[in-house]
Amino acid sequence: MEIKFLEIDLEKDLIAIETVAKKSFSVTPDATLAEWFNFDYMVKMIKEDRGLCLKAVADNNDIAGMIFALQESPINGKEGVEKWVIIIAGVDPKYTNQGIGTLLLQKLEELVKVRGVKKMFTYTNKDDIKVINFYRKNGYEDAGWIKDYQYGKDNSAAFLLKSL
Ligand SMILES: CC(C)(COP(=O)(O)OP(=O)(O)OC[C@H]1O[C@@H](n2cnc3c(N)ncnc32)[C@H](O)[C@@H]1OP(=O)(O)O)[C@@H](O)C(=O)NCCC(=O)NCCS
Repeated sequence: MEIKFLEIDLEKDLIAIETVAKKSFSVTPDATLAEWFNFDYMVKMIKEDRGLCLKAVADNNDIAGMIFALQESPINGKEGVEKWVIIIAGVDPKYTNQGIGTLLLQKLEELVKVRGVKKMFTYTNKDDIKVINFYRKNGYEDAGWIKDYQYGKDNSAAFLLKSL
């Protein structure tokens, strides 16, 4: 199967991106997407050139996955520009374990590096060893955790960091 990795089209892709994100998290114990992710804010950040969302498109035109990252802190001058955070990565359960998540991540890193990003971090539930290992395998190092950082029960967050 041939997969293309592209920036999303804000005019055409939003519903499909939201659908694939929801599908990917429907199989996780995380809080519901609406509790911790705001698609309108994602669009605002992309329009302001402070965020990037990629889609993985299968050869039957299915959107198989998505990833979104943004400037970590827009008010911190140079540091804000150089440090980004991945907020969400989701692959439709139908398409997982085929390398799509890894390629979305690699493409994202490639594109933000060109924009001058030097540090990428991400976070996930502290006990979500599958996702933590996904990022470790892709070169992200453990960078500590914050108690009760996220919504829901037992939702302390583990942080991971990669120098690009
Ligand atoms: C985390 C997530 C994005 C990973 O996406 P993915 O496409 O399954 O990722 P990959 O296929 O690149 O890697 C997953 C596994 O498949 C393996 N894999 C990669 N290509 C493969 C292939 N061609 N054949 C078989 N296995 C393969 C990887 O080695 C990895 O194995 P591991 O779990 O033993 O480490 C996806 O599982 C997901 O959407 N999860 C739910 C949402 C979520 O928790 N998102 C992350 C936090 S925001």
